Amino acid sequence: MQKGTFPLTTSSRVTYMRLMLLGFIFLCFSLLTGAEAECPLQLDPQRVVVRHGGSVEVNCNTSVAHKGMGWEASEGGVPMTRNQNLITWRVSELTEWDINPFCYINPVDGNQCVVKLPVTVYKTPDSVSISTVNHRGPMIEGQQYELQCDVHDVAPVQYLTVKWYKGQTLLHQTTFTDTIETPVNKTVTLLIRPDRADDGAQYWCEAELDLGAEGPQPPPKNSSEPLNVEVYYKPRHFSSTETIIIDNKVMLDCTVKANPAPDYTWSSDDLKEEISSSVLKSSELSPGNYTCTATNILGSDSKVFILKSTERTTFWAIVLTGVVVAVVLIFAYLIFKFKFSKNSLI
Ligand SMILES: *[C@@H]1O[C@H](CO)[C@@H](O)[C@H](O)[C@H]1NC(C)=O
Repeated sequence: MQKGTFPLTTSSRVTYMRLMLLGFIFLCFSLLTGAEAECPLQLDPQRVVVRHGGSVEVNCNTSVAHKGMGWEASEGGVPMTRNQNLITWRVSELTEWDINPFCYINPVDGNQCVVKLPVTVYKTPDSVSISTVNHRGPMIEGQQYELQCDVHDVAPVQYLTVKWYKGQTLLHQTTFTDTIETPVNKTVTLLIRPDRADDGAQYWCEAELDLGAEGPQPPPKNSSEPLNVEVYYKPRHFSSTETIIIDNKVMLDCTVKANPAPDYTWSSDDLKEEISSSVLKSSELSPGNYTCTATNILGSDSKVFILKSTERTTFWAIVLTGVVVAVVLIFAYLIFKFKFSKNSLI
């Protein structure tokens, strides 16, 4: 819109646009209701959802005088009848995917008119399966993998939702916009980057057909088998150093989680032989630094234990007590001496 050709102020332009919008909404509304109101037929129900091979029944009813009414459909059509006001479209085994029945009437006054019946024919999937794309065996922490969910022979795909789960957690979901009515196969993929917490996790996918209020309740769901994921990750200690006072009950514990389980090595000036245990008794060692390294195929992580002796602490405690006693004695002496010298002055 150019300012020069349409000299409206901002506020009047807004009002004008509001009027246009209102007019448009009114037009749509009258078109919709007008078309429905014109044909004196009521369908009950107005929409049907039926399983492929299932049965269906819909009444077409009128309250006006007519020269004939009937159902037109590729299955279960009802020939034109004159003496009834209610006719039923009935199919005991609906096998057509794309069926478009309609009820028609020739009113005494007026032209022939029709009301279409929307029919949704559905089929739950034959199978839902999960797999990893181009990969076998354990996954490695931090790397990306692709999971695939295959949904076989489902219709109509526009009502399908494929959901991804890890345990009970919903990870992602996909819907489809295709309007094809016959069964299709659908493959959905999901990228994952597992970490150590995902070792042993179960991934699975689920196909849900949500066919609306007229459809089966609750909506039919088909789940895949769970995919068990094993994740390899390297050892990682919570802290890289730990100070320990030698005691009968205290251990140097280097145990750390890793997959595959790690091997342990210890190094120190005092250790003569090789140790492969993850735990050492502090009481069997002399004070010093002990470095433990946990290693698996993905890497290694070290931790330093600073081992201190109880004797040394006792020694320092004695020294400290000695110093305190000496200070107290010196003070006592000084006070005594000060008092004494004052007395001697008087
Ligand atoms: C779906 O997959 C199955 C098995 O792989 C196959 O037999 C069938 O033809 C496929 N259907 C469609 C619509 O592609």
